[in-house]
Amino acid sequence: MAKEIIVSGVRPTGNPHIGNYLGAIKQFVKLQKKYTTYFFIADLHAINEPQDPKKLEEQTLEIAALYLACGLEPANTTLFLQSHIPEHLELAHILSTITPVGELSRMTQYKDKVASGKPANLGLLAYPVLMAADILIYNADAVPVGEDQLQHLEFARMVARKFNTRFSETFKEPKALIQKEGARIMGLDDPSKKMSKSATSANNYIGIMDSEEEIRRKIKIAVTDSEKNIKYNPETKPAISNLLVIYSQMAGEEIKSVEAKYKNKSYAEFKNDLVEVIIKKFSHIQRKYNALAK
Ligand code: AMP
Ligand code: TRP
Repeated sequence: MAKEIIVSGVRPTGNPHIGNYLGAIKQFVKLQKKYTTYFFIADLHAINEPQDPKKLEEQTLEIAALYLACGLEPANTTLFLQSHIPEHLELAHILSTITPVGELSRMTQYKDKVASGKPANLGLLAYPVLMAADILIYNADAVPVGEDQLQHLEFARMVARKFNTRFSETFKEPKALIQKEGARIMGLDDPSKKMSKSATSANNYIGIMDSEEEIRRKIKIAVTDSEKNIKYNPETKPAISNLLVIYSQMAGEEIKSVEAKYKNKSYAEFKNDLVEVIIKKFSHIQRKYNALAK
């Protein structure tokens, strides 16, 4: 039987962080051996928001090196730059002709970005149409993404269905592959919002390329909850629960077992060990990255 097809991308918008790693890139690495995979650098999506052209070039190389440093292997997967394949844009145009504008203007990410002061460009509005084209053009079965992309995936399924009904059975309806844990890493300085590259403070995120000192400092000042116990409960203890998810995902250890290990320990002890767990994983990636960057 033919292998299932997996497609996903990351925008070269700078400051790739631990949320991008856990929600997306770590999954890509796992999937490459079992499936036919296409992972790309979504540069056309990056320019939906203002970018400095020089920086965009650097950030594009940054994601390329990061893909390899995190463990994607060209022998097992297809890596490419979105703008090198003009067919993405051709299909996006065709899909745009069956997409009501009202539907796009109601998408959460579009509304949030415009509310935060980003220009309401046509490109930004049409973002989900290009994303649907990225996926449908490869006949993808599944798309590994963080939770914030779920609505865009639903849009891609909807547009595939609509096209198939109107013309003929042409596109597969892709499933979203969203992990149970790690698909929505929250900000270290505000656990009520997702960790984000464009956060106003760099204390919001752990960058994959952050130095040991930066990681230590950011974890040390990361918000915690009242009560001192280390328990997973995103409703009542959102900050510690977020740190527990990061620990568990980075160490490859069940949350329950991490909780048990820190049962009578302080936040400070837990945070110290969390720093070590992060550094252990990222120093390995950083070494490979630096060698490639040369
Ligand atoms: P982007 O940098 O927006 O292109 O995102 C790249 C991938 O990282 C996408 O699959 C996102 O859903 C995922 N992602 C972004 N932020 C987070 C987060 N805070 N937690 C988990 N996954 C995330
Ligand atoms: N929109 C995705 C993000 O912000 C990036 C992306 C573009 C993507 N095209 C895609 C992800 C196709 C999966 C499939 O992270």
